[in-house]
Amino acid sequence: MIDLLIKRRSIRKYTDEKIEEQKVEILKKAALLAPTGKNKKECEFVFVDDRELLEKLSKAKPQGGKMLEGAALAIVIIADETKSDVWIEDASVAATTLHYAAQDLELGSCWVQIRNRMFDYDAEISAESVVKDILNIGVDYKVHSIISIGYPEKWRPENDVASLDYSKIYENGCK
Ligand SMILES: Cc1cc2nc3c(=O)[nH]c(=O)nc-3n(C[C@H](O)[C@H](O)[C@H](O)COP(=O)(O)O)c2cc1C
Repeated sequence: MIDLLIKRRSIRKYTDEKIEEQKVEILKKAALLAPTGKNKKECEFVFVDDRELLEKLSKAKPQGGKMLEGAALAIVIIADETKSDVWIEDASVAATTLHYAAQDLELGSCWVQIRNRMFDYDAEISAESVVKDILNIGVDYKVHSIISIGYPEKWRPENDVASLDYSKIYENGCK
């Protein structure tokens, strides 16, 4: 696990290579295995590999979402907020789980924030409503984020363990 944590970086440029079906199956398992508060399992996942839809999703949030146009796969994390008061935490855990599952499969990934973000072309419209329209997501659902995935055009340098800020770690209290 520590190796995955060190190696994982946000990857925003991908090759044209398709992701093998076995790897997609593993990503589906990873999404569904992520833990949830009170085991409510309220998060759901829309897997998108259709080029036209990926292109449309990339325009839902051009600042910070443009890489979706070149991704082989996007996983849109949604949840019915009435089913759990910790749906945001649960969706974040799922997003993180998918990030590391992708890394383990030697795939690059990047988190695209949708919740609390506006549509860049019109500040009155939420990025969430644009994504919901594109994917026919029901009115009861919130859109948390999109995980963009593909084979990296280039791996980025791994995290520098020597520069970790240990002043942020406390033992037995904050003094
Ligand atoms: C909550 C959250 C939201 C993020 N939203 C975006 C986003 O919308 N677009 C993007 O390109 N990267 C996004 N990122 C990726 C961060 O920019 C990235 O993780 C950070 O710069 C550290 O780089 P690294 O992932 O390579 O270590 C997000 C990451 C997190 C955890």
